[in-house]
This record gives sequence, C-alpha cells and structure tokens, in this order.
Amino acid sequence: MQIIESVSELLTYVENGKQKGLKSGLVPTMGALHEGHLSLVRQSVKDNDVTIVSLFVNPVQFNNPKDLETYPRQPEQDFKLLAREGVDVVFAPVESEIYPEGFDRNRKFNLGKVAEVMEGKHRPGHFQGVALVVNRLFQLCRPTRAYFGLKDFQQIAVIREMLRYEDLDVEIVPCPIVREESGLALSSRNMLLSPAQRREAAAIHAVLKESVDFAKSHSVEETRRFVVERLDAKDDFKVEYFEIVDGLTLLPVEEWTEAALIVGCITVYVGNVRLIDNIQYKQLKAN
Ligand code: PAJ
Repeated sequence: MQIIESVSELLTYVENGKQKGLKSGLVPTMGALHEGHLSLVRQSVKDNDVTIVSLFVNPVQFNNPKDLETYPRQPEQDFKLLAREGVDVVFAPVESEIYPEGFDRNRKFNLGKVAEVMEGKHRPGHFQGVALVVNRLFQLCRPTRAYFGLKDFQQIAVIREMLRYEDLDVEIVPCPIVREESGLALSSRNMLLSPAQRREAAAIHAVLKESVDFAKSHSVEETRRFVVERLDAKDDFKVEYFEIVDGLTLLPVEEWTEAALIVGCITVYVGNVRLIDNIQYKQLKAN
C-alpha cells in the first residue's frame, strides 16, 4: 500500500492506472476509521482493480470551528487498518494540496433542494464544502466508482446532484449502515462520547426501529412525534431535527402513500456530540 501526500504523485499514479485500463474505486473519508468506513473499502476492493482511500478532514465543510478542532485524527492507526484491507493507495494530503493558493474555495455548486433541507438547513455551507472536496477528489482520482455510506443519506443525494452538472463519469455506490451490536451507528464521533453516553446513544436506533412498527398504525406526524418525544425525554439528549421524507426529493411527506421510498432522518445531540442516523419506513420494490 502506497501512502501518497502530494497531488502530483497522485496524478501520476492515476494516469498510469488509466493507461492500463484499470477500474478504480475511491473511498473518500475524513479518517478516524471504523468498521463503517472499512465496509466501504471492502466493497471497493471487491468491485475494482485498484482502490484509493482518501483521508482528509475537510475544513471547508465544518461550519463549527469547535467541531473541526475536536474532530478525531489518528492517521497512523488508519494506515494500519487500511494496509490489511488490500487498499492500493491512501491519499492523505495536507490542506494546501487540496486547496492550493488561488483555488476557488468559494465555488458554489448547483445542489438544488436536496442540499437545503435537514443537514443543509442546520449546517449552513456544509454541503457546499462536501461538494467542493468530493468534486476535487473526483477530478484528481477519476474513479470508476465511488463509495458512500447510507448513514449520511442526504450526503449521497447531494453528491448525485453535484454530479449532474459536472463532466465526471463516476458511479456512486451507496453502502449499508454498519452498527455496533447495541444498534448505535458507527461514527468517528462516537469516541467523543463518555462510556455512559455511548450506552445511552443506542436508544437512537432502538427508538427509530420501534417507530417502524408504530408507523403501521399511526400517521406520519404521530410517528415523527413519537420519535422526538421519546428521545428528548432522555437525559443529555436533544433532537435537533427528525424528518420523515421522500427518499428521492428529501422533502417531508404527510402521508405514508405519498412516496415509494420513505426515510426518517435524525440528528441528536448527546451531550455536545452531534450524532446522525436514519431509518427506512418504506422501500422501493425491487423489479
Ligand atoms: P466520514 O464521516 O469520514 O465518512 C466517510 C464515509 O464513510 C461516508 O460515505 C460515510 O457515510 C461512511 N460511513 C460513516 N459511518 C458509517 C457507518 N456506520 N456505516 C456505513 N458507512 C459509514 O462523510 C464524510 O466523511 C465526508 O463528508 C466526506 C464524504 C469524506 C467529504 O469530506
């Protein structure tokens, strides 16, 4: 496994692969890797001739300086984990490689409505920052496929939207949410929780799962309130938002019959730690 820090070295590697006609997979991450990230990596290694994993804590997507400061960083451990997975290249650049002088950090992408709701509403500028870095990584790596976790359900919709207007031929591969045994969705932020908070945080998925049953005999609004009330009742918990949305447009639904794919997306503060998760109430029928 090669660890590449500079763009020029990366470009040479990518060009070589292209010349050989190799199919490549890209797994963009911000490091502090866990089994959720590794599941994306494994899928990419399976699907492609070569896999590039990027490790870059993208300052442009953090709207809260404190969050950026406390974001966990452990590159040496990440390298070790990735070396075991058959990854070909880890791209671990410093900021000036991703955003060199003169690079337009303020470039705005046309991300449509999917970037305005939920995370978009509560973290202004966040998705423009995600689009900026993912676009840059796609330009540099020119991957055949790129892997994203469904834990960040809205992020996938935003990246698809970004791609609509760019000359980039990248297949987006959504991957299932990986959870702890307790049900808590794995997240780099979980390590910021105290042991007690971490145990309590399992309630997020437990209540969401319960709400799928509840939804069978209740309205969308009743289901939404069921989740918010149960979680807000817990010490140290504050639901920032919980929305039950059409999985394609990400706009709230009022009736269960309104869309073929219906997803409940939640953000909860447990103490100071912001956790996100989601659950499907209704799925597109495979045909
Ligand atoms: P990060 O939070 O490091 O996540 C990297 C990828 O891992 C994302 O696609 C995310 O959805 C996925 N992931 C995280 N936890 C997961 C879990 N429990 N199960 C499955 N997949 C999971 O998302 C980002 O970084 C950044 O916004 C990035 C796309 C790298 C742009 O900076």
